[in-house]
Amino acid sequence: MTNVLLIGNGAREHAIAKAVLRSSEDSRLFAYMKSNNPGISELCEDIQIGSYSNIDEIKAFAQSIVPDFVVIGPEDPLNNGVADALEEIGIPSIGPKKELARLETSKSFTRLIMQKYGIEGNPKFKVFESVDGIKEFLEELEGIVIKPDGLTGGKGVRVQGDHFDTKGEALQYCIEVLETHPTVVIEDKLDGEEFSLQCFTDGVNVIDTPPCQDHKRAYVDDKGPNTGGMGSYSGADHLLPFMKEEHLKVAHDITVKVAKALKEETGELYKGVMYGGFIITKQGVKLIEYNARMGDPEAMNVLSIMKSDFVEMCRAIVNGKLDEYNIEFDNLATVCKYAVPEGYPTNPVKNEKVDVSEVAQDTEIFYASVDKKEDGLYMSGSRAIAFVGKGIDIEEAQVKAENAVCSVKGKVFHREDIGTKELIQKRIDHMKRILG
Ligand code: GLY
Repeated sequence: MTNVLLIGNGAREHAIAKAVLRSSEDSRLFAYMKSNNPGISELCEDIQIGSYSNIDEIKAFAQSIVPDFVVIGPEDPLNNGVADALEEIGIPSIGPKKELARLETSKSFTRLIMQKYGIEGNPKFKVFESVDGIKEFLEELEGIVIKPDGLTGGKGVRVQGDHFDTKGEALQYCIEVLETHPTVVIEDKLDGEEFSLQCFTDGVNVIDTPPCQDHKRAYVDDKGPNTGGMGSYSGADHLLPFMKEEHLKVAHDITVKVAKALKEETGELYKGVMYGGFIITKQGVKLIEYNARMGDPEAMNVLSIMKSDFVEMCRAIVNGKLDEYNIEFDNLATVCKYAVPEGYPTNPVKNEKVDVSEVAQDTEIFYASVDKKEDGLYMSGSRAIAFVGKGIDIEEAQVKAENAVCSVKGKVFHREDIGTKELIQKRIDHMKRILG
């Protein structure tokens, strides 16, 4: 019997929970969640609701279960040192320790480590601890991206053209950032097509899942405010329609080198997920940022088609034997679409009922920000429910995901264009224009 403790309460963790229970090993699942995800809790032997910063409570819950390992889903518990605390009591985690999680939590850490170890993939950038020299560096850049150092819930990064226009505004934002953060990273804005590459690693060996493309903007045609991600797709050939095998290889090689550099720099093995947000530009593949966890929604794409055993993979990560594990995926395309509350992300309706009883059986459903009450599911304000369609191509998967999300009843909306032929063609045309 394998006992697995899952930390996290989103659709990503619902996908992880399902992957654990698909294992050929006889597994029992437990979850520690910030709020009760009804999809996860119905799969669990036992759950505890609590804060991701309550390390003592997490440790006590883990000690009561004695799990073979803990899977840490979101970034907050990683940043709070949950993996470190569990290691102290002899419980291994799929998720890096706090120092290594700086890969996600400190944008300067990652840029500087790549620079120090001569790893390609950085854009032109500089890290500033004070305003000295910022004005001069801004003058050197064609387009500007400003990243506060530290977790910002996805809301701290500002991009010229999207969030501000002039260099004066950029300088002003840097000054504001430095009032609340120790450092700010300023980078050249990159133009190209983005992809997410989620890799599992035992600190030495790095294995890829199929690349995905996420859609951050709330509305059709990439309009509207940024969100946690409205949906994503992956290709049946485990590439994306605008990318070549060589692009994937570059991203993989960067990740292998970064894992090695992390070991050299910290003396610790990074065990968990290295999810790189990459961009294919005229100058080659560049790293936008790493996350120390699976993507949401991208976890739903790849875990829905993962053929090999997730629990076996976690054991291989814990034991440093990932080289002996053969990760396999179905040769199917996936499209994931989120139903989100009306008004999301700026002014979402809350406590509104959402009904999925008429969703067809040919899609997978992943619960996110919903509460279960006696008379059904209620939305709590963030992304509510994700639907994954699978198919022989992206179009087939898209039709299934779209039909599913359209049959949700309630005050919700979604992005109709994710995975459609028209949007995919736009991505291909954009890539062609960029690469010339
Ligand atoms: N897909 C965006 C994220 O997980 O951060």
